[in-house]
Amino acid sequence: MPAASNLVDLRELAVRLAIAAGEELLARQRSLSIDAAGVETKSSANDPVSAADRASEKLIVDGLTAARPGDGLLGEEGASRVSSTGLTWVIDPLDGTVNYLYGRLDWSVSIAVEDENGALVGVVHQPRTGTTWSAVRDAGAFRDDQRLGSLRHTPLESALVATGFSYLPDRRAEQAALLQDLLPVVRDIRRGGSAALDLCSVADRTADAYYEHLIQPWDVAAGALIAREVGAVVVRGPVFPQGILAAAPSVAAPLQELLTRRSA
Ligand code: IPD
Ligand code: CA
Ligand code: CA
Repeated sequence: MPAASNLVDLRELAVRLAIAAGEELLARQRSLSIDAAGVETKSSANDPVSAADRASEKLIVDGLTAARPGDGLLGEEGASRVSSTGLTWVIDPLDGTVNYLYGRLDWSVSIAVEDENGALVGVVHQPRTGTTWSAVRDAGAFRDDQRLGSLRHTPLESALVATGFSYLPDRRAEQAALLQDLLPVVRDIRRGGSAALDLCSVADRTADAYYEHLIQPWDVAAGALIAREVGAVVVRGPVFPQGILAAAPSVAAPLQELLTRRSA
């Protein structure tokens, strides 16, 4: 693991690039919309990608390449470089593209740097509110300059649970079936539209849990570290092979039990 001073430098680099990418995205949002020419689709007709997503990734990749040419890269819009330092940057240049293209506020830039043990530093920036969440492994999580405190003790029946839905119709049908079991036994459900912000909402106590069944590394690399650093239980791996559950400890076990029972 790099020395603490280097971790601070890595965090500052990630914050600087996330804010710069956010400015680029803000400048473009007013002139873009979901039905604009040039908005293409990826995994399904409802999975858009725009020139703004690509411009944001280019800005971040150029900045990382200038500052840390030996580090690896993994970006949603195609950035890929093998690491010669043991560190790899995992980038979602615009998380919440649908919200962005509808002119909404809830989209973000997500940047993490990982070593062989997972995320070392994570930064999620929400340009429309100017809020930046960040964390360094074993050193806590912050919203701007404010250190985030511990999570509330909530039973499942009082939990506000965030989730997200796949772009793939068949998978959505399964997710809807699961919601039929979940909705009656929790306080309520939220579908924010940015996985990175959903994870920050768990860290921030504006939700008690977040889960999603089909998620990519760049969606969650930074936010999962931020949630974990305030004491959230974050489950991936064998239980949710392609998904994630992040929850306050009091909610994690009953929610995990319900989700795995229903998904079995
Ligand atoms: C999506 C958002 C959404 C989640 C999807 C992601 P994108 O990312 O995070 O909340 O439900 O699974 O793909 O496509 O806007 O970068
Ligand atoms: Ca994403
Ligand atoms: Ca994205």
